[in-house]
Amino acid sequence: MKKSIAILAGDGIGPEVTKQAIKCLDAVAEVFNHQFIYHEALIGAVAIDATGNPFPEATEKVCKTTDAILFGAIGHPKYDNDPSAKVRPEQGLLSMRKKLGLFANVRPVNSYEVLLSISPLKEEIIRGVDFVVFRELTGGIYFGEPRGRSEDGDKAFDTCVYSKHEIERIAHYAFQAAAKRRKKVTLVDKANVLATSRLWRETVTKLARQYPEIELDFMFVDNAAMKIIQNPKHFDVVLTENMFGDIITDEASVISGSLGMLPSASLGTRQSLFEPIHGSYPEVAGKNKANPIGSILSAAMLLEYAFQLHEESNLIQEAVEKSLDKGFTTEDIFKENAKTTEEVGDRIASFIYSKNKALAN
Ligand code: IPM
Ligand code: MN
Repeated sequence: MKKSIAILAGDGIGPEVTKQAIKCLDAVAEVFNHQFIYHEALIGAVAIDATGNPFPEATEKVCKTTDAILFGAIGHPKYDNDPSAKVRPEQGLLSMRKKLGLFANVRPVNSYEVLLSISPLKEEIIRGVDFVVFRELTGGIYFGEPRGRSEDGDKAFDTCVYSKHEIERIAHYAFQAAAKRRKKVTLVDKANVLATSRLWRETVTKLARQYPEIELDFMFVDNAAMKIIQNPKHFDVVLTENMFGDIITDEASVISGSLGMLPSASLGTRQSLFEPIHGSYPEVAGKNKANPIGSILSAAMLLEYAFQLHEESNLIQEAVEKSLDKGFTTEDIFKENAKTTEEVGDRIASFIYSKNKALAN
């Protein structure tokens, strides 16, 4: 198979973790005889520095003409404490999601046997956790209008808006995913307070009739935030709006042991993008210390969702697990005897290449 992949490494640790994901994609290409062609493009603070725009037109074009997008991270501390900054790196990510129509963000949450001990949660609570969050990504309070400040500067306002169409298209994805899993969807909302949440409940309840084999339950977001750490095995597929999904997936990363472990897919009708859920982590940028696994598992999701290469995707996941089993990890996981970003990437890639030898024998 011959495929093109846009590489948007972005800011902070983005480039170094993305490099490890490419290493693993190259290993897969060799083992399975595929050809992946990479097209690099700018996004985020590096794009602002070079062009003044966090999502330049040239980048948009690369995204629209390639078969999938692998994204690193976005954000730079020089913008974080400057409320007057006119352009921000994060705008690049948000406008990319919007312009490419990436409305469904898929964030799987698993626990790993060897990492059970590093989670602050009790082992018996997190052993065997396996759920996936479908976060709506191009609507809600992130994009609603009007937004801004009152003329006298005394007030600021954001608007949360959802249409039935926006709810339905991601709900279909969530129900289809549940059909291949444990057949349960939990809609997380705040329907006791918000009109948008009540529209979600009404729309999803109606749509659920098309999926009679799937059980649908509802949970208020405050209660869900508690349940995720108290009894995460309750969940199979979580369906939720943009901001609630943002918050509960960072929370859920505690189950895996490190934010550095979690991958994600952002799906639209044409393009799809794959990125670790962590940010640019400027404190360790360029130090060869960042955990590349979130990015490597995002490459596995890319193979699965964008190219339907199931065996290839599974091989990356197996290679990650093997490397974890040997305690071969960056310092966010095991401080003692911590490995570098490069070393972890090399080790996972070499597990993938070893499949080649196994096939040859
Ligand atoms: C994420 C991030 C982004 C978001 C930020 C960087 C705009 O936190 O992808 O979860 O809030 O969506
Ligand atoms: Mn987030």
